[in-house]
Amino acid sequence: MDLAQPRRVEHQQTDKGYVPVYTTALVEQPWDTYTADDHATWSTLYQRQRELLVGRACQEFLDAQDEMGMSAHMIPRFNQLNEVLGAATGWTLVGVEGLLPELDFFDHLANRRFPVTWWIRRPDQIDYIAEPDLFHDLFGHVPLLMNPVFANYMEAYGRGGVKAHAIGPEALQNLTRLYWYTVEFGLIATPEGMRIYGAGIVSSKGESLYSLESAAPNRIGFDLQRIMRTRYRIDTFQKTYFVIDSFEQLMQATSPDFTPIYAALADQAHLPAGDVQADDRVFQAGTGEGWADGGDV
Ligand code: PHE
Ligand code: FE
Repeated sequence: MDLAQPRRVEHQQTDKGYVPVYTTALVEQPWDTYTADDHATWSTLYQRQRELLVGRACQEFLDAQDEMGMSAHMIPRFNQLNEVLGAATGWTLVGVEGLLPELDFFDHLANRRFPVTWWIRRPDQIDYIAEPDLFHDLFGHVPLLMNPVFANYMEAYGRGGVKAHAIGPEALQNLTRLYWYTVEFGLIATPEGMRIYGAGIVSSKGESLYSLESAAPNRIGFDLQRIMRTRYRIDTFQKTYFVIDSFEQLMQATSPDFTPIYAALADQAHLPAGDVQADDRVFQAGTGEGWADGGDV
């Protein structure tokens, strides 16, 4: 593996806001360069989220964090996590500067490599940061890679991504929505009650509470094509969360070849993020309170 010298990602201010400069290089986690502030940021966030997530995140997620030896004590070393993770499911964490071009990202997943941003947010960004940092990637995404079924789902997604990329932008949009409404913002109905498994939710205090407890958003049963048609929000909490019954259900529903599905969806209208459809399996129809108009991606 070619490893580059780590450096903090630079951003360009454009008329669309801050745009990250994409870099594809893998970096060795520069663990010794983390400052006391960096470790303190991890500790604060870890403690706060763990307290909130007991009884809110699915048990697989919480148990995996413990098994991997993640704790509030300090920022974990990728090398140490990789020993446990590799033995459990064969996944490897690789350090990156930040967001990767889509095809590179898919290729990593297809080969059971999960790119983790090496740097952590500044103390003044504790509650919100627009781009993924180490806390989102490591605390949010990595634990479920310990689960054999979810681990297989992520690899299959990577291979599906390479394929969708070759088919075209619309297929890619359909697939990205699936990632968004499962890997990032998914809920799971367990015998103990509704729980969170999406990384975008577990790494956010506000959305951990909102996604489960607010009356505003819709909570709708997982349906592959429904999700692939549904726009989403990148600047507010989600208007709709999709609920799986199990990781096995997710794996089974996504195992067919998507090529004919992409073709069939090409003629169908995209759905606004907050819509409820007649044939939805509705866990909760949201009140829509506090929703922003427009802005669906
Ligand atoms: N079955 C999908 C395809 O043929 C691949 C995939 C699997 C996509 C799991 C996402 C999740 O494209
Ligand atoms: Fe993410």
